[in-house]
Amino acid sequence: MIADHGNPRPGHGSRLQCYDLTMSELVCVDRDAAGIARVTLNRPEARNALSRATCERLTAIARDLENDPGVRAVIITGAGDRAFCAGADLKERRGVSAAETAPYLAAIAGAIDAWARLPRPTLALVNGAAFGGGMELCLACDFRIAAASAVFALTEVRLGIMPGAGGTQRLPRLVGIAAAKELILLGRRIDAERARAMGLVMEVCAGNKLAAAGDNLMRELLLCAPKSVAQAKRAIDDGFDLPLEDALALERECYNVTLFSADRDEGLRAFAEKRPPQYTGR
Ligand code: COA
Repeated sequence: MIADHGNPRPGHGSRLQCYDLTMSELVCVDRDAAGIARVTLNRPEARNALSRATCERLTAIARDLENDPGVRAVIITGAGDRAFCAGADLKERRGVSAAETAPYLAAIAGAIDAWARLPRPTLALVNGAAFGGGMELCLACDFRIAAASAVFALTEVRLGIMPGAGGTQRLPRLVGIAAAKELILLGRRIDAERARAMGLVMEVCAGNKLAAAGDNLMRELLLCAPKSVAQAKRAIDDGFDLPLEDALALERECYNVTLFSADRDEGLRAFAEKRPPQYTGR
């Protein structure tokens, strides 16, 4: 389980704790008492590249977070100020033949899919380069806030491969096919402002304001009923590719989960009593 460090205010969590001692150098996670989990890719010397072991830890962490009812939202970022994540670990890959690459690809795609499937809202704080699998990890999050110095790219076609961990599917869904083709077919790098103009990033700020920008978003999320947010996320993510009729049926199914929740009663009561609601997630 993930350590709970007993601090109720987002942004004022305790010192970063490593998720588990044996892998402490790869990925760290900290959860405060408000239920905000902060995950940090922790290989700054390799620009937080996704080695196979890093991917396996990320997958394990995503599973733990998914099964932890106390988690309200998840932030992911990279250690250092150069990179969010430089994508697949190209040094590790160098000694691996094309035929032997399948488990590496499965590890990255598995980690990113596990991240995309998290039922709680996720935020990528992009503090530098987000390349290849690093950009694909961003795309699997619900929100992205970038430092002004951030650079995004799916560089794979310049490396003789192509995006293989969701990039060709999630990017066009987020920014449209024309912009996605510009990035994917050319391997072009874009800065944070261009990413914001495309709708990829919701906010750009100075690097030293990035954590605070993430905390502000978390404060806003904490005002919302957890079950409502989770069900709305499910309706959007699972409904997007369905025929409209099926998607609307899914929306109704998700809505009904909130309709019979204690938080729905609390929301109506708080409105009538002109006070802020106290949601419990039930
Ligand atoms: N895998 C393994 N190691 C990586 C890496 C990757 N994807 N990206 C960077 N590194 C390593 C470098 O080899 C270097 O190691 P060294 O100190 O032993 O030489 C170290 O990280 C620092 O890299 P450097 O390029 O000097 O840092 P930078 O801050 O100037 O630039 C990047 C950072 C991310 C812009 C640049 O490293 C880069 O373009 N990396 C390749 C990213 C990529 O194309 N990924 C897609 C993979 S499909």
